[in-house]
Amino acid sequence: MDKIIINGGKPLHGDVYISGAKNAVLPIITACIIAPGKYTLNNVPDLRDTRTMCRLMEMVGATVYFENNTLEIDTTHCDTPEAPYDLVKTMRASFYVLGPFMSRFNYAKVSLPGGCAWGPRPVDFHLKALEDLGANIILDHGNIITKGKMKGADINFTKKSVGATGNTLMAAVGAEGCTKISNAACEPDIASLAEFLVKMGASIDGIGKENITINGGKSLRGDFEFDIIPDRIEAGTFMIATAITGGEVTLHNVDPNHLNFVTDALIETGSAVIPENNTIYVKSGKNIKPFDITTEEYPGFPTDLQAQWIALMTLAEGNSHVIDNIYTDRFTHIPELNRFGANIRLTKNKADIRGVKQLTGAPVMSTDIRASASLILGALASDGESQISRVYHIDRGYENIEEKFSKLGANIKRICD
Ligand code: UD1
Repeated sequence: MDKIIINGGKPLHGDVYISGAKNAVLPIITACIIAPGKYTLNNVPDLRDTRTMCRLMEMVGATVYFENNTLEIDTTHCDTPEAPYDLVKTMRASFYVLGPFMSRFNYAKVSLPGGCAWGPRPVDFHLKALEDLGANIILDHGNIITKGKMKGADINFTKKSVGATGNTLMAAVGAEGCTKISNAACEPDIASLAEFLVKMGASIDGIGKENITINGGKSLRGDFEFDIIPDRIEAGTFMIATAITGGEVTLHNVDPNHLNFVTDALIETGSAVIPENNTIYVKSGKNIKPFDITTEEYPGFPTDLQAQWIALMTLAEGNSHVIDNIYTDRFTHIPELNRFGANIRLTKNKADIRGVKQLTGAPVMSTDIRASASLILGALASDGESQISRVYHIDRGYENIEEKFSKLGANIKRICD
C-alpha cells in the first residue's frame, strides 16, 4: 500500500489550481442516467471516487470515456438499474443512483450502505422521500428494492441532508406533477446538480434555497456539455495548509462565494485572505490565533473541513474548541494528530485543543478522506519526517495532492510499499 512521506517545516508559497468538486460531480454523473443521451462533463476531478462512479455507470450499461478531466458519458443503452454491495460499500455516494434509477426505470435495486468511519450514516431520509413520491420499498438480502410509478408530493426533511436532497431532486424530475421539498440542503453541489437537471429540461424553482419546487414528468434530454464547479473543500484545505505552514499562496479556479465562512474564520486566526473573481490570496499571520468553530450546514463551516481546522488549531497561541454537529463521531484524526505532539481531548462531539509550540513528525494512519487531509497538514507543519499510511483515502477526494503541494515548495513524496 502507498505511503506519503513528508519532511515538514517549509512554508507553502506560490499558486495552486483547484480541481472540480467531488461532491458535485458524483451526483451529476448519476443524473446522466435519467434521460438517455450523451453528456460531456468538463473540469471533472480525476479521483478514485470518480473512477468508482464511472465503473458503476458501466455496470448500469453506460459507455464512459474519461481523459484530461473531461468525462463523456452515453446513457442511451442503460438497462441494469442495480448497484451492488461491492461498490456501495467502498463509496456511499453510489447511493445517488437510486433517484435516477426510479426516474428512468420506475425500479431500483441498490445495496443498503452500512456504517462508516464517521458512525452509522443512515439513509432513512432518502427512502422516506421516495415513499412520499409513491415508491414501494422493500429490503431484500441487504438490498433496497424500490418500484412503482411516482407522483409529485410534499417532502419535508426534518434535518438538512445533502444526499437525500440530491436523490429526491433526481427522483422528482421523473415523478408526474409538482414536488415541493422543504428544508432542502443548500450546498453548492446540490445547486449545481439542480442546474444540470434544468439543462436537461427539468423545471425547478428555488435552486440553492431551502424550499425547492419541481414540476416533474417533463420530457428530458441529454446531448449537452456541463462544467463542474470548483471544489470548495479542496480549496479550504489549501487555505488552511497555507495558514498552518506560515505560507503565502494564491488559489486559482475557485468560487470565493462558496468559502465565506472559511475565509472569515481564517481572518480571525490572523491570516490575510483576499478573494477576487475566481482566486483567493492567503497569507498567514505571524502567529495563529485560536478560533472556535462549530460545523453547520452550508453556508456554515463545513464538516468536511473540521479535521483540517483542528490541525490548524493544534499550533494556535492558546486554547480552542471545535464542535461537529453534522457528524458527531467524525474524529478519528484526533489520536493521530496527537502522535505529532498535539494536545487534543475529545468529549462527545467537542474537541478541546490546547495549542502547542511545535509538532514533530511521526508515522500516522489515514482513516477517511478529510482526516487524511488533516494529517497531511499536521505533517507539513511538523519538524522532521512523517509517514502517512493508507493514503488510498486521500486519493478518493484529492487530485494530484503530492504534485500540488510539491509545486508550493513542500517536501512530499509517495512511496509504494
Ligand atoms: C455529504 C457529503 C459529505 C459531507 C456531508 C455533510 C457527498 C458525496 N458527501 O454526505 O462529504 O460531509 O454531505 O456536509 O456529497 N442523515 C440522516 N438520514 C439520512 C441522511 C442523512 O439522519 O437519510 C443525517 C446524517 O447522519 C448527518 C446529516 O443528516 O448527520 C447530514 O448528512 P448528509 O448531508 O446526508 O451527508 P451525505 O449526503 O451522506
